[in-house]
Parts: sequence; C-alpha cells; structure tokens
Amino acid sequence: MKISIAGNGYVGAVTGACFAKLGHYIIFIDVDKKRIDLINKAISPVCEKGLDELLSNYKDKIKATNDYSSAIKESDIIFICVGTPSKSDGHIDLSFIEDAAIELGKCLKNKDGWHLVVVKSTVLPGTAENVILPLIEKHSGKKAGKDFGLATNPEFLKEGVAVKDFLEPDRIVFGFYDEKSRDVLRELYKNFSCPIVETSLSTAEMIKYVNNAFLATKISFANEIGNICKKLGINTYEVFHAVGLDNRINPAFFGAGIGFGGSCFPKDVRALIAKGDEIESNARMLKSAMEVNEEQPIKLIQLLKKHIPSLKGKKIGVLGLSFKPNTDDIRESRAIPIVDILIKNGADVIAYDPLAEDNFKKLFSQIEYAPSCKEILNSDAILIVTDWEEFNNLDYKGKIVIDGRKIEKAKKEAAVYEGVCW
Ligand code: UGA
Repeated sequence: MKISIAGNGYVGAVTGACFAKLGHYIIFIDVDKKRIDLINKAISPVCEKGLDELLSNYKDKIKATNDYSSAIKESDIIFICVGTPSKSDGHIDLSFIEDAAIELGKCLKNKDGWHLVVVKSTVLPGTAENVILPLIEKHSGKKAGKDFGLATNPEFLKEGVAVKDFLEPDRIVFGFYDEKSRDVLRELYKNFSCPIVETSLSTAEMIKYVNNAFLATKISFANEIGNICKKLGINTYEVFHAVGLDNRINPAFFGAGIGFGGSCFPKDVRALIAKGDEIESNARMLKSAMEVNEEQPIKLIQLLKKHIPSLKGKKIGVLGLSFKPNTDDIRESRAIPIVDILIKNGADVIAYDPLAEDNFKKLFSQIEYAPSCKEILNSDAILIVTDWEEFNNLDYKGKIVIDGRKIEKAKKEAAVYEGVCW
C-alpha cells in the first residue's frame, strides 16, 4: 500500500520506517524542514535504536516532503502521528491535530477517490469522531464513511525499543468508523501473529489512555510501597519480585525509584484527570499517582540533606539527565526538578549524561557538564537519576551516593548509600 505519515517524531518515524520494512511505500510529511531533509538522507530525525538502519535499508520505498497535497494524491492511507502535548492546565493541546485535519481536508477536496485517515496520535475518546471528522468534512466537502474512511490505531511504542515494539507487538488495537476502513486495516496488519482488537473509534482511543494510566499508576504504587518498605527496613525489590510472580499481576513496571517521566505518562495521566474533572468524574487514583510522582524526586534531595544538611557551595554530581536510559529525551525527566532544587539550594551541580547533555543545556546552561561519568565521582555527593548501564561500572568506593534508580554496584560499594525507596 502507499502510506503517508503526518508528523515524523518518534511515533511517525518508527511507524513509517517499519511499514516500509513490511513492503509498503511511505511518504513522510512534516512541517519541519530539518526532519524532511534528514529522512531524505536516510538519517533518523529522532534518537531511536534501529531506525537509521531501516531508513537506509528501505530508502527506495521512502520519501519525505512538506507538501501534503502531493502526498495525499500519491497515497491510499494517511497515518496522523502529530504530537498532542499538555496545555498548562493539564488539558490536551489539540492544535497540531486540528492543523493536520484542516490541511488534510483541503487536500482531500482535490483528490478523486477514497482515502483512509488513521489517527495514531494519542487523543482523548471522542476526538477522532467529534474533532477530526468534522474538520476534514468541512474542509474537503466530503463525507466520512463514503468519500473517506476513518480509524483510530493507538501505538504502544516505548522510546528506545520502539522499532522492536512495532514489529513484535503484544497486540494491535484499532477502532473504525466504517467497514471499508476496518477491512483496509485488517489487510495492513494481516501478517502480524499477535491478537488484534477491533473496536469503536473512541474505545481504541480510551484503550491507549488506560494503558498508560495503568502503567503510570503501577509505578507510583511501587514507589508508595517502596517509601513504606524503606522506613520498615524491607527490601522493596524483593517484595515486588514476589508480587510480580502472581500471574494476575506481572513483574513489569514495578521498578521503584524517583518516578516516571517522558513525553507520555505524565501528559496522558494529566489529560485523563482533566477530562474526568470536566465531566465531573473525579479521577482520585490518577491524581494520587501524579502526586506520588511529584514527591519522589524531592525524597532524593531529602535523603541527600540527611547526610549533607546544607548544600550551599557543595559539589553535587548528577548521574543521568534523560527521562530513561538509551534516549536523549529529557521531556518531564526527573532530573529537571532535582537539578532545579539543587540550584535553589546553592549547590554546585556537575552533571553527566551519555546522550542528553545538549538537550539539558537548553534548560540549564548554568551548571557544569562532565565529559564522562568518572568526573562526577569527585563530588561531595553523587545522585543517580537515570539507570544508564554504564553507571554499573563506576568505582563508588568511599563515596556518598543517593540512588534514585537502584544501581547495584553503588549499593555494594559506596561508603554512604541511600536508595530513594529501598
Ligand atoms: C510509554 C509506554 O510505555 C508506551 O507503551 C507508550 O506507547 C508510550 O509511553 C506512549 O504513549 O507513546 P515511554 O514514555 O517511551 O513509553 O517510556 P517507558 O519505558 O514506559 O518509561 C516511562 C517512565 O517510567 C520512565 O521515566 C521510566 O524511568 C519510568 N519507569 C518505568 C519507572 O520508574 N519504573 C519502571 O518500572 C518502569
């Protein structure tokens, strides 16, 4: 099939490159000229394992453009993969989605023949049917279900392993407006052996939110229990190892620590909370999950102050700045509140991250950045913020280490060691 992809961030770039691997012809559309140029040179626009290789191996099946109109004319399906960030009040910001729907509508006006519109961006239930559909109909003068098809197909890709997640999914979920859209998606995904859930547009949209909200709540639950375990002198990780062995539960995402970051969990949980408030359905558990998540980084600083009560003029080393290992992404990284509090307390911060330094510098140009993790060791205390593999090879002997991510070597070797909730 000929597929266009609107929005070439993590989701769009991975989706397009993987569909190219599966034999489809891909036209990436983006407003960002830099991203278009990179893709046309077979270079990934985002830091994602395996993506450069796919773009280069399948470059004869891939092109990128900022011209919606030609892309729509040349393709049979468009996947909308634009971002849906948070507004300052937690509500979802649909402006990129709306722009894409308007542009798409204008292009469909001049296209003969049927086209399938698939929404992959994370949007609240009802968005495809009540926001995207009317905008496309208004700007195209065409009718959904007759002149164009509409479907929602949420992604469950984890940054860093997104290519693998796409090609070997646990399940595929799609919602459809009309049967023709359903049939095209069945054909598109026919070679996947995982379960495929076919449902309504809004149920598929909701499944994505519930998935992320559950995992985020699971992490906050582990952190809350971890805080109790620490006070009782119980090993949190041993507890969750055993609890995770219960078939009804599952061990994943019980990693207690300084909480979750990234472009998805915090934003999606906030959007669901805001939606709940709007329809007078108070999402108490989700609010608590966010509260625990805000408090965990503060606990790390409290533990540091237990050993160094005044941070003024003290050299504090921060290991890790990205929101998780194997990415340069710092969106909602727990390093942000931690570095912010350290600066406010007058500490001299020296930080190291293998990939995220440049991104972090845009937020905090005033701190020192170490060229390697070894330099961090000459600090008055070391904070472990991201669980990069290389932090397991450092010599922590004689050091004060406050660990937010449970690095075993630090626990074994440090002269003073505090785990945030173990
Ligand atoms: C998340 C979901 O896992 C994906 O399924 C989803 O598709 C994606 O959001 C999205 O909505 O697009 P991602 O944000 O890439 O993926 O990152 P995760 O690997 O889920 O990690 C999120 C955060 O949780 C990280 O800060 C990580 O350090 C933290 N985490 C994760 C823990 O604190 N403990 C754990 O046990 C696991």
